[in-house]
Amino acid sequence: MTPENSQALIEVPNTQRRVKPLLEINGICKTFRRGKRTVEALTEVDLQVADGEFLTIPGPSGCGKSTLLHIIGGFESATVGSVLLSGEPVTKPSRAPGMMFQHGALFPWKSVLDNVARPLVAAKEGRRESRQAAMEYVELVGLNGFQDSYPGELSGGMRQRVALARTLAMKPRVLLMDEPFGALDAQTRELMQEELNRIWSATGTTVVFITHDINEAIFLGDRVVVMGARPGRIVHEEPVDLPRPRTAEAKKDLRMLEQHNRLWDVLRQEMLPRGDEASR
Ligand SMILES: Nc1ncnc2c1ncn2[C@@H]1O[C@H](COP(=O)(O)OP(=O)(O)OP(=O)(O)O)[C@@H](O)[C@H]1O
Ligand SMILES: [Mg+2]
Repeated sequence: MTPENSQALIEVPNTQRRVKPLLEINGICKTFRRGKRTVEALTEVDLQVADGEFLTIPGPSGCGKSTLLHIIGGFESATVGSVLLSGEPVTKPSRAPGMMFQHGALFPWKSVLDNVARPLVAAKEGRRESRQAAMEYVELVGLNGFQDSYPGELSGGMRQRVALARTLAMKPRVLLMDEPFGALDAQTRELMQEELNRIWSATGTTVVFITHDINEAIFLGDRVVVMGARPGRIVHEEPVDLPRPRTAEAKKDLRMLEQHNRLWDVLRQEMLPRGDEASR
């Protein structure tokens, strides 16, 4: 990728606006080596994300979604390629890309408020100021009244709200979410998707959201980028043409069903065994 390319403008989905990308992923390849065994987890992944965009990435299990997100967050290094956030290379974890992990953990011995305030305190912000700021995010995610509860006293959905508040309190320039609702029951998951749309509208944060679920990807995203497996790569992308703000009503929209069917055709092809694998 040449410096000229990295300055190229990208179109904000469903608008005529062209902007400099906030996040640029240039030619990422990742190979894991364990002794003599190698796993080519990602190959030639190029992706640009606009400031304020909600990008969703569905893909089959094991296609490298978490690996890609860990590289964007600076938790894992790429074998080849680079990640730029606001034009700056990401090489190690920082608070600029805020990560919500696939199996996000809270401190069980700390209250909701202290869990949310913890990264701010760790970043040497005053304890009182940190708790004040944390309370704003506890309210934003709808947990007002539960600030003194402990994680063990909360439902799975509430615990994910705490994890989201904790990540948002760091005011990340991009919020990286790895299947945050994957462990929730189907109904709680639907409600959390609606909540996330509300919270995203209130904060305007740029989001990269990984999921197995095509409907979740459409309902939340401005743009959907489908990943394929063996090795992990981008196989398809399209904008989501559903009006915002999106409430549960959007899930009944015929356009959502059509888009689901189209994306499922793409994803299904990626999940079917290839000729050489089927014959084994
Ligand atoms: N630390 C590691 N060492 C060796 N191989 C790894 C490591 N992390 C991931 N892999 C391999 O890389 C590939 C991609 O894994 P990854 O966890 O990124 O997939 P995923 O798309 O997030 O899967 P899932 O949807 O199940 O969460 C897999 O084949 C996995 O076994
Ligand atoms: Mg994963």
